[in-house]
Amino acid sequence: MVNIAILGFGTVGSGVAEVMRENAQSIAHNAAEEIRVKYILDIRDFPGSPFADKMVRDFSVIESDPDVRVVVETIGGAGKAYEFTKRALLAGKSVVTSNKELVSTRGHELLEIAKQRNVNYLFEASVGGGIPIIRPITQCLTANEIDEIYGILNGTTNYILTRMITDGAPFGEILKDAQRLGYAEADPTADVEGYDAARKICILADLCFGKSVDPERIFVEGISGVTLEDVEYARRLGYKIKLLGRAWRLPGGHITAYVAPHLISKTSLLSNVDGVMNGIVVHGNALGECMFYGAGAGKRPTASAVVADVIDAVKHLKARKYLGWDESEPGYVVDAGDVATRWYLRTGSGLEEIGRAFGRVRLISYPGEYPGAGPEEYAFATDEMTGRELSEKCAGMEVRSRFRIL
Ligand code: HSE
Repeated sequence: MVNIAILGFGTVGSGVAEVMRENAQSIAHNAAEEIRVKYILDIRDFPGSPFADKMVRDFSVIESDPDVRVVVETIGGAGKAYEFTKRALLAGKSVVTSNKELVSTRGHELLEIAKQRNVNYLFEASVGGGIPIIRPITQCLTANEIDEIYGILNGTTNYILTRMITDGAPFGEILKDAQRLGYAEADPTADVEGYDAARKICILADLCFGKSVDPERIFVEGISGVTLEDVEYARRLGYKIKLLGRAWRLPGGHITAYVAPHLISKTSLLSNVDGVMNGIVVHGNALGECMFYGAGAGKRPTASAVVADVIDAVKHLKARKYLGWDESEPGYVVDAGDVATRWYLRTGSGLEEIGRAFGRVRLISYPGEYPGAGPEEYAFATDEMTGRELSEKCAGMEVRSRFRIL
């Protein structure tokens, strides 16, 4: 029998305990070992919980117990979670986590410690919730040079955008629903402003391209600037607005990575990834294109990925699984503003100004046509240009929205 401990009894941690209990038999079969939750660490009390007898408040109880071979970190953030992960690895325990903030900011260091101690640090649930994506990249697709990876990486914002499209519901009301359903982060700013997706695309870029990408140094734009007018204009053009994380290789050993709302064609598979679902597209030079789809957030889907990592850690108590990336050099990540793309623009400027800046464009809305659009508003798609070139062209114009087109 192998003993494990769970750190943090919030949405994900309690989901892990429940799935471990509910599927104990099949988990034991798949791991070829019985796995027992020996401790659950939390500072709160949970009277009446079926796991009340496992609760501890002091991490050193877990750290000093040689019977605990695997620690599940579902505290979140990069404070206590970092300290306890490091101490658990140094104590020779494997650690499994769903914590994208910690993996994206300290992953390199923690993986190095895991390597030194010959234990595993596994984080399948950190990207895409229940969708298998870390293991496919690090195992199934390793014959490829991966050129590009992009996708819908945040369930909360996809849920909000989907309901804006289908119900025309107000933003605040939809966000409350997402929180109630357990999709949103403790502080939903991380979802809404794109930081959560940034952490995830950085983890994917670390793994796909082999060098660390700092989520605090990439361009990040969330969905708070997306209006119902934008949603409607995009629809008329044959597009849907989705928040995408994107990373791809550039010539000269560089890459770019960023998060921003995009107009994506309604004919693409990704445009039909709705609600809390996530979709991730990987392009490999041998494989071509491949898409991963599934529940990107929520208690049980996330617990599904965490528990699978626990089983993997138990099956690899003696053999370390290779997982890691190198530090990157300055200039490795090219700013998203320097990469060319087509743009959607919604402007309160008149036809003359638009013509002067962009020449002939196909307008996709007309003054006063959309209720609430104001006396004069136009929207159109541009040719390919960098964000900087776009800003220069738009100098002096009244720009209401500008989003990339995939
Ligand atoms: N808040 C995250 C999301 C949870 O909405 O995608 C899963 O990482």
